Amino acid sequence: MNQKRENWGSKYGFILAAAGSAVGLGNIWKFPYITGENGGGVFVLIYLICIALVGIPIMMAEIVIGRSTQKSPVGAFSALAGKDSPWKIIGWMGIFVGFIILSYYSVVAGWALNYTFMSLTNFFSGKSPDEIGSVFGMLYTSSGINIFWHAIFMMMTVGVVLGGIKGGIERWNRILMPALILIFIILAIISVFLPGWKDAVNFVFFPHFDKLKASGVLEALGHAFFTLSLGMGAMLTYGSYLQKDADIVKSSIWISVLDTGVALLACMVMFPIIFTYGFSPEAGPGLVFKTLPIIFAQIGSGGMFISFIFFLLLVFAALSSAVSLLEVVTSYFIDEKSWSRAKATLVTGGIIFLFGIPSALSGSGVLFPQWEAMYGKNFFDTFDYLASNWMLPLGGLFISIYAGWIMDPKLREAEYLSGSTFTSTWYYKVWLVFLKFVAPISVILIILQRVGLIDIDKLMAAIF
Ligand code: TRP
Repeated sequence: MNQKRENWGSKYGFILAAAGSAVGLGNIWKFPYITGENGGGVFVLIYLICIALVGIPIMMAEIVIGRSTQKSPVGAFSALAGKDSPWKIIGWMGIFVGFIILSYYSVVAGWALNYTFMSLTNFFSGKSPDEIGSVFGMLYTSSGINIFWHAIFMMMTVGVVLGGIKGGIERWNRILMPALILIFIILAIISVFLPGWKDAVNFVFFPHFDKLKASGVLEALGHAFFTLSLGMGAMLTYGSYLQKDADIVKSSIWISVLDTGVALLACMVMFPIIFTYGFSPEAGPGLVFKTLPIIFAQIGSGGMFISFIFFLLLVFAALSSAVSLLEVVTSYFIDEKSWSRAKATLVTGGIIFLFGIPSALSGSGVLFPQWEAMYGKNFFDTFDYLASNWMLPLGGLFISIYAGWIMDPKLREAEYLSGSTFTSTWYYKVWLVFLKFVAPISVILIILQRVGLIDIDKLMAAIF
């Protein structure tokens, strides 16, 4: 039979790698800016509910499926459901979504690379907050620089994935994740002393229900998937490398807590700056790049160093996430098409680079300028919107339905129990209730609300 599947070096290694996949630009770049655009507190609250009710149960399901089949998504569903089963579509969709997400993700990571190097030139020192903001505008609109950094970041991602599981992905995460969390804690402490801190706490943690937009609920759900790397088989693939004696429940909870912690920390660093300097929380995708250099400028001579370290760690956080996206795509060609790791990684990485060029050119508007006029979003935003708000929740929905209703219950329970410290059937049953009912029904309701088929406000009013 086939050779023994490559494994993580330790159980701890899996948690770190999975947390490395989860913690990324989603937490630091995206979460604060969509929180700002969606009115703060209510959005954060809905997002936290989605993580707990939908995210954690589906994460466990992905890991259970991955570890029980020891395969990447397409192979996993073909092993469980049969070679010609339509459930394999979940796997195909995952590869497609991985392609799309990585293509624009790499462009944003490119901005972080650019800021890493700009930090070395002390670019922000002596600049006013407005001048610092305009630096991002210049970067965003220049096509050549965007393509250049996008190419560099894709090469870095390909380089790590070439190294395979243990040598590549795991080794880096061990050092960089803790370092990232440490620097965020330091920055969050500095932010406490800014005059806008109170307003920031009020904005992020106190729900103002009148500020909620209808689209915000779907966005919160989509982001719960995006930030936990769910809905396209990334956690499934990582689970396939997990030892049988590792605890799936504990790991999933840890990963989610770490991930959410970093996202909230990021808000507590950025919003005090926003409220202190009277910026709009709705600055969009440039938010992190427009705000953080302002504190770095204030720290004085040490600011350049902290800025460099911060953006470097942001690049690494993005890298450990990008790697999980590329791994889903390459492992398909390795497992199902018997390509060598080198060939699979180089070919898919190259194609994703090409795929990302329209996103890299989005700010400059040189490519398809009509697109934005027609859809109200540029290429980049359109990709992000479709992938995170629609494809990931749909993928997650199918995964929960499969794991909850179709998968062989004996196999599912055995895999859940293997290595688990949550062995009482009570825990298992609670998970099943979430997997079978709570998660899929929430996703369906939110999608129906978004497309206008139901009105949750009226529904609530009718029930209560
Ligand atoms: N979770 C990562 C972030 O927050 C992005 C990511 C990595 C991802 N792998 C994924 C998103 C798989 C969706 C699916 O930055």
